[in-house]
Amino acid sequence: AEKWVLMVTAQTPTNIAVIKYWGKRDENLILPVNDSISVTLDPEHLCTTTTVAASPSFDSDRMWLNGKEISLSGDRYQNCLREIRARAGDVEDEGKGVKIAKKDWEKLHLHIASYNNFPTAAGLASSAAGLACLVFALAKLMNVKDDQSKLSAIARQGSGSACRSLYGGFVKWVMGKDDDGKDSLAVQLADEKHWDDLVIIIAVVSSSQKETSSTTGMRETVETSLLLKHRAKEVVPKRTLQMEEAIKNRDFASFAQLTCADSNQFHAVCLDTSPPIFYMNDTSHSIKLWNLALMKQLFSRIISIVEKWNRSEETPQVAYTFDAGPNAVMFARNRKAATLLLQRLLFYFPPSSAADLDSYILGDKSILK
Ligand code: PMV
Repeated sequence: AEKWVLMVTAQTPTNIAVIKYWGKRDENLILPVNDSISVTLDPEHLCTTTTVAASPSFDSDRMWLNGKEISLSGDRYQNCLREIRARAGDVEDEGKGVKIAKKDWEKLHLHIASYNNFPTAAGLASSAAGLACLVFALAKLMNVKDDQSKLSAIARQGSGSACRSLYGGFVKWVMGKDDDGKDSLAVQLADEKHWDDLVIIIAVVSSSQKETSSTTGMRETVETSLLLKHRAKEVVPKRTLQMEEAIKNRDFASFAQLTCADSNQFHAVCLDTSPPIFYMNDTSHSIKLWNLALMKQLFSRIISIVEKWNRSEETPQVAYTFDAGPNAVMFARNRKAATLLLQRLLFYFPPSSAADLDSYILGDKSILK
């Protein structure tokens, strides 16, 4: 048998939505009920690294996540593998003496190894980075010629928010109108250099798995929430335009106001679901005691710290946003505001040790000085 292995490794950061995606109009293709906008983080701190390999000696498709084998049988993976294989091109590696024709990809099996450098499934959109990275790496391996936007529509079928991680900087997921999903894809609004002053602070409160999966949560919200209908029809269309303007003009005051308002409406929509979903104080799983105590106050504390502080200044200094997990994401208008924000957070939530501090604030700690 032939002995060669072809490999590609890619790295993809996660993204944080400032206009939230919540609710699908088509669950199979993953088509959303509204547009969404996100910021892609820098690859250093919150990213997935994925290696994909093809070899005639592999006898099935297999995948390992953080070193543990996981099943590829779910729709999200199968949809991505099928879509990428359908677009594969000819590949030639002269060094290895390998020649793969387009049609051979149907028979060649894949091994996939993926690592997250952050907690999986704790609301830090690990699926976003993971599926985006998988699609990107496979497209490179199989010489897929489609551009990033077309690839984003494939990643979308793995996990909705994944489509936004195909680009850096500020990204919009356009919901699209078509039933086949071809126009439901990501576009870059501004690149990662556009708004250099902006500092993102993430408090990782718990690394435990979230209670309600986003798929189940969204389904129940779409079926039962009247507020979601109002949000999708009347609120988000205007808000995305305002957010695009705020990003274009680096207008932090508008950016902060829209980001906080949208996070709050997303959680209001969750609460408007029957049965109600509480992502902001979801404490029912087994997490460390100090985390539990911290978490109960964290969200309301952060909201009140930020709201009070912003009101006491001439113009907003910071913004918050919370996703479907027990972590808090904050934006500061510049480094000075970021340092002040961190000092306040550490005052209200004093870490009991240096190790604690390490475990709940990711990123550039030099900002503390
Ligand atoms: O892509 P999913 O199924 O993990 O859903 C993500 C939903 C939120 O993170 C809560 C919002 C968003 O737009 O990312």
